[in-house]
Amino acid sequence: MLVTSRSYAEYEAMFDLTELPDSILDCCAGGSSFTAEAAARGVDAVAVDQAYELPTPELVDTVRRSLPQGAQIVDQHAASFVWHWYGDPGRKDDLRIEAADRFLQDVTTAPERYVAGSLPELPFEDGRFDLVLCSHLLFTWADKYDRDWHLAALKELVRVSRSEVRIFPLVQQGAGDAVPYLPDLLDDLRPVRSEIRKVPYEFQVGADQMLVLNR
Ligand SMILES: C[S@@+](CC[C@H](N)C(=O)[O-])C[C@H]1O[C@@H](n2cnc3c(N)ncnc32)[C@H](O)[C@@H]1O
Repeated sequence: MLVTSRSYAEYEAMFDLTELPDSILDCCAGGSSFTAEAAARGVDAVAVDQAYELPTPELVDTVRRSLPQGAQIVDQHAASFVWHWYGDPGRKDDLRIEAADRFLQDVTTAPERYVAGSLPELPFEDGRFDLVLCSHLLFTWADKYDRDWHLAALKELVRVSRSEVRIFPLVQQGAGDAVPYLPDLLDDLRPVRSEIRKVPYEFQVGADQMLVLNR
């Protein structure tokens, strides 16, 4: 599995973040620099990921190896991606390399921010975070995780949030296929309120929407 390293700038656009609440969970954060950069802005920011169980040298290796592997997926599905947000592949690569460097530095200097955990069971109390973000796990890996897993994972993300959960994107990895059971999942989540909202970011063609859940 890829442990990718999206930057704060990518998160800001994918989740249309205009202001930051007091506490944020990034689940599952992989090698993203979002937590480090949000913490630098004064947020009580925590990252959770199953990859944080790895010994540090292995985590470093996995994050570094995931950089070219992520780019390969884009190359293999070139017609399914657009570049207006990044400008060009070099800018994307620069953002990801900088993000990986920032993550790898922060995970060693502030390890308390990085918690090993696995959906659909997170090691946090109910309502621990004002905002919970989920980038490129749910829906992205619908070929690996089934409908029941997604429902349990969504309920868990809602459980640890005090007010809001945001998930991006709503399509599968690679060619960007739709997730056929998404509307049914949102029905099953009721009384949790759900809204699909447009965001100022698009990379996979047409994937410019996030899912917003409110308890
Ligand atoms: C594609 S990466 C996304 C990382 C980061 N959010 C980003 O946008 O760059 C997906 C991450 O989900 C983690 N992951 C996969 N299944 C998981 C699970 N069941 N529980 C926790 N983390 C999981 C992987 O270790 C990986 O770091």
